[in-house]
Amino acid sequence: MLTATGRVEELLGRLTLDEKALLTAGDDVWHLPAIPRVGLGRLKMSDGPSGVRGESRGTRRSLSFPCGIAAGSTWDVDLLNRYGAGLAAEARSKGVHVLLGPTICVQRVPVAGRTFESFSEDPLLTAELAVAYIRGVQSQGVAACAKHFACNDQEFERLTISAEVDEKTLREIHLPAFEAAVREAGVWAVMSAYNRVNGTYCGEHPWLLGEVLKGEWGFDGVVVSDWLGTHSTAPAALAGLDIEMPGPPQHLGPLLADAVRAGKVPEAVLEDHCRRVLRLAERTGLLDEPAPAVEAEDDDPERRRLARNLAISGAVLLRNDGLLPLTGARKLAVIGPNAERLEPGGGGSSTVIPLQRTSLLEALRAQFPGVEVVHEEGCRIDHDVPVLRTGLIPEGLAVEYFANREWAGPPAATDRVWTGQYVAFGTPWPGDAGSAFSMRARGAFKPDRDGPWELSLANTGAARVLLDGAVVIDNTKPEPGESLYGFGSTTLRTTVELEGGRAYELLIELDSDATIVAGYRLGARPPARPNGIARAAAAAASADAVVLVVGNNPDWETEGKDRESLALPGEQDELVRQVLAANPRTAVVVNAGAPIAMPWADDTGALLVLWYPGEEGAAALAEMLAGASEPGGRLPISFPKRLEDLTAFAAYPGSDGAVRYEEGSLIGYRDLDARGIEPTFCFGHGLGYTHFEFGEPEVTQSGGEVRLSVPVTNTGERPGSEVVQVYVGAELKGFAKVALEPAATAPVEVTLDERAFRRWDGGWRVEPGERELRIGASSRDIRRRVTVTLP
Ligand code: BGC
Repeated sequence: MLTATGRVEELLGRLTLDEKALLTAGDDVWHLPAIPRVGLGRLKMSDGPSGVRGESRGTRRSLSFPCGIAAGSTWDVDLLNRYGAGLAAEARSKGVHVLLGPTICVQRVPVAGRTFESFSEDPLLTAELAVAYIRGVQSQGVAACAKHFACNDQEFERLTISAEVDEKTLREIHLPAFEAAVREAGVWAVMSAYNRVNGTYCGEHPWLLGEVLKGEWGFDGVVVSDWLGTHSTAPAALAGLDIEMPGPPQHLGPLLADAVRAGKVPEAVLEDHCRRVLRLAERTGLLDEPAPAVEAEDDDPERRRLARNLAISGAVLLRNDGLLPLTGARKLAVIGPNAERLEPGGGGSSTVIPLQRTSLLEALRAQFPGVEVVHEEGCRIDHDVPVLRTGLIPEGLAVEYFANREWAGPPAATDRVWTGQYVAFGTPWPGDAGSAFSMRARGAFKPDRDGPWELSLANTGAARVLLDGAVVIDNTKPEPGESLYGFGSTTLRTTVELEGGRAYELLIELDSDATIVAGYRLGARPPARPNGIARAAAAAASADAVVLVVGNNPDWETEGKDRESLALPGEQDELVRQVLAANPRTAVVVNAGAPIAMPWADDTGALLVLWYPGEEGAAALAEMLAGASEPGGRLPISFPKRLEDLTAFAAYPGSDGAVRYEEGSLIGYRDLDARGIEPTFCFGHGLGYTHFEFGEPEVTQSGGEVRLSVPVTNTGERPGSEVVQVYVGAELKGFAKVALEPAATAPVEVTLDERAFRRWDGGWRVEPGERELRIGASSRDIRRRVTVTLP
């Protein structure tokens, strides 16, 4: 039996130069090629980071977990570890070897489109949670892929922008989570970012990839480019990029073999890339099971429970005027554009189609038996006509694929698509060679209300939509547009009068070329209810208590686009004002993935940030409102009053292709605290349904390491959890979460090693002398202080 490493070396020795080079690039969007001659199967990657989508297309559903910032709000490393293991099980069910997550860039400006995907604005919190997540994923033999290395902190000009940032800021703020991912969690893959750092693309950055990641930190895994983020052959390969994704290759793969033959890249460099890929194949079990797995929709009750626990532990109760938990109500008004169907996640590559989507109304009825639950949407926040997601009965549409553009002959494959959107990258159905094809998706659409429905269609190739046999949108002579990642047409729109409750036969026909992206997006916007805000206020006035859900959706908060401001879209602020005026017993629930402006915060009966909570969000929220469980989150990011309060925002989004990180190490709360600016809610803040007291900390010091033991007592009448946060000066340097029964006391241990006290000054240095440790329940709620002297 060969040793682990022996197997990789033996395999490497059997590969030709061309075969080695083949393994440095995808053969389609999600796979590395198989080398059947040596029994090597195809290695599969998938997004990530808060569910495992599989090959996507819209034909597979997956358990949707809470988004990154919700996970960040848990401040719970044990839970993050279980989260990782749960995701790995999801990955296995989809035959995935590499999960493209976690997203661990720190949140630099809160309007950045991917704020919801990452954990925190704080480097330490991000690092500790990343380590726990990665260990969880990899404990199950699935690779985590820490992304996006480095400084992928905004979507404005995301493919080209250069982050202009000095080494001290990189080392202290933007690299620590990646460093911890490598050194502490031993991550098996890292994704290079799209952007440039100090002028050089991250995918060909010799300092970032070669010197720091692989050299100094000793990373032995693979660096995979972000999708279409490879820009060269020799410079990328020499800098340390191991894999170009997606395929077919444009820079590495066969072109790398040519570069080796031409003497532009030493063969040893190719050998190193290939060795890393084979090591990844070995680590993820591919060397033992070369056969591709079929993608399953695995609805596992334990993982569902985990998703709910995460949503609860990450929900942040910002304010509670004694309203929560809700008791004694006979009538509850549930209001808001996101109230009936909470948005489970943000937009872009992290999106998964949930296995189930429970309605909040149903969840509340189950949690509050006998209570009348009424609903008003109040206002709309559609960015555009939203993708058709509801009213498809039975769920989804039956799909037939044809290997020609005329729907001729028997279907080559069949499947189901779950929404009005189908997008294939490269191959229209699993196993197809990816040539021209046609398809039809058929089912029933039952609108939930009468009136003029707005429908929209954008597609690659040619497509049309029929309702009850009549063509309602014909896009068979499409104009090129920006839809479907730039491969689709302009969007056609029409309005049709529909009858609520009647099932219409829906047929979508598409014929398209499938080389890169193929598909369609069918949107459906129901007729607006007139006087929405007035109706909502009336419903609020008639109820004993109100649950008002406001927020964003995946069209407003998405990869590819930053938000324009902190303001809630549409008329939501006005809706909140009028509902609060009608009934002060209103719990406002924020269903968004990033800080928002809340000019009405002080008037709420309770204010709870649910984030994008995944598909168990409705059940989680109902449990918390009823007091069956306690919101356990603390803010991992400051909620500033204005964007202008942040120094980082002054240079955002940059000009002439570059954005200067002028804030240096003063990011987020560090910046606000240093300049004495009050946020709406500060970093680390979060309430529960009970209270805690912190006793006198015990300090033990050995050399540069400081151990704190803080006695924490639950002084309230309910069980609950608290996060002990330790700040050195103004910076979070340690934390621990504890759950306690009423009247119970426990010592909470936090260890600060040398890293808590170091500063970058051409190298890491610890200044000897006194340091004040501030121990509290948020960055501004400091309960105890101790001074230590460093040798
Ligand atoms: C995103 C990555 C993602 C990749 C594959 C890119 O656009 O930036 O985070 O993993 O697509 O979907």
